[in-house]
Amino acid sequence: MSKQVVFSGIQPTGDIHIGNYLGALRNWVRLQDEYDTIYCVVDLHALTVAQDPAEFETARLEAAKMVIAAGVDPTTSLFYYQSQVPQHTELSWILGTLTQLGSLNRMTQFKDKSDQGAANLGLYSYPVLMAADILIHHAHKVPVGDDQVQHLELTRDLAERFNRRFGDEFPVPEGIIPEHGARIMSLQDPTSKMSKSDPNQGSRILLLDDPDVVRKKVGRAVTDSGTGIEYNWESKPGISNLLEILSLFSETPVEKLVDAHADKQYGEFKQLVAEAVVDGLAPIRSAYASLEDEDVSRLMHKGALDARSSAEKFQVSVRQKVGLTGH
Ligand code: AMP
Ligand code: TRP
Repeated sequence: MSKQVVFSGIQPTGDIHIGNYLGALRNWVRLQDEYDTIYCVVDLHALTVAQDPAEFETARLEAAKMVIAAGVDPTTSLFYYQSQVPQHTELSWILGTLTQLGSLNRMTQFKDKSDQGAANLGLYSYPVLMAADILIHHAHKVPVGDDQVQHLELTRDLAERFNRRFGDEFPVPEGIIPEHGARIMSLQDPTSKMSKSDPNQGSRILLLDDPDVVRKKVGRAVTDSGTGIEYNWESKPGISNLLEILSLFSETPVEKLVDAHADKQYGEFKQLVAEAVVDGLAPIRSAYASLEDEDVSRLMHKGALDARSSAEKFQVSVRQKVGLTGH
């Protein structure tokens, strides 16, 4: 029996942080053994926010390098830039014709960004392009953090709607949302999620941060009033976030950590967290340093060619179903 298909994407906007890693990337790597994995640097999505063209070229390549350094093997997974596979945008148009405006109006990510005054048509239809990314490959599973659940729901709706209207085409994809790590919080405000766009650099740890920077950021992380190491998001959100981070990097269940460190001072506990993060990031930093830009560019071009031929067969089938056979 052929393997199920996994698809996911990451935007080349800003530096990749441990939230991206623990919520998504790390699972991308793990799923490579069991599934046919397809991963994408979703550069067209990133254009929904104004980008400087020269900087954007660099950001795309850096994102590709980070994904490879984190452990995605481009000889095992299909890995490419979204913009180099035009089947994504064609399917996005077709799915757009099946999308109710009401469902786009409900998207919290769109609401948040348009409240900041950045609304444009691309931002509005962002979730439709995301659905196309997933469906053009007939993906079954989508490993993402918790902030993408609403977008995935739309993807599932669109798959079902298309299948009902035109006949069975798409599997209805399911999210792979990790039980822990799907929502790593800001180190400076543990009630909001760690984000690439937070102006406060101290709010996030980047995968390429020097060990000393990691130690400083963890050392300055906001903790809670009182003492004691407890896992309680209501009363101790700062410590709970650090516990979660430590648990994921040390592969130790949170309960065990609480048992072992319940009476530790915050300062001492933070040192443990910092060292676990430093150790966890070391192989990624060294893998990144050993990657050559040209090699990665070559791999990405090869990935795009392979992704195009894989997407093409489904494109033909979609065109036939909707009545665009080309004669
Ligand atoms: P993005 O940078 O928006 O393309 O996000 C890449 C992946 O990281 C997506 O699967 C997000 O759901 C995930 N992600 C982003 N921020 C966090 C966070 N703070 N905690 C866990 N996962 C996250
Ligand atoms: N919207 C996702 C994010 O911000 C990125 C993305 C685009 C994606 N297309 C996708 C994720 C398809 C999973 C599958 O993180």
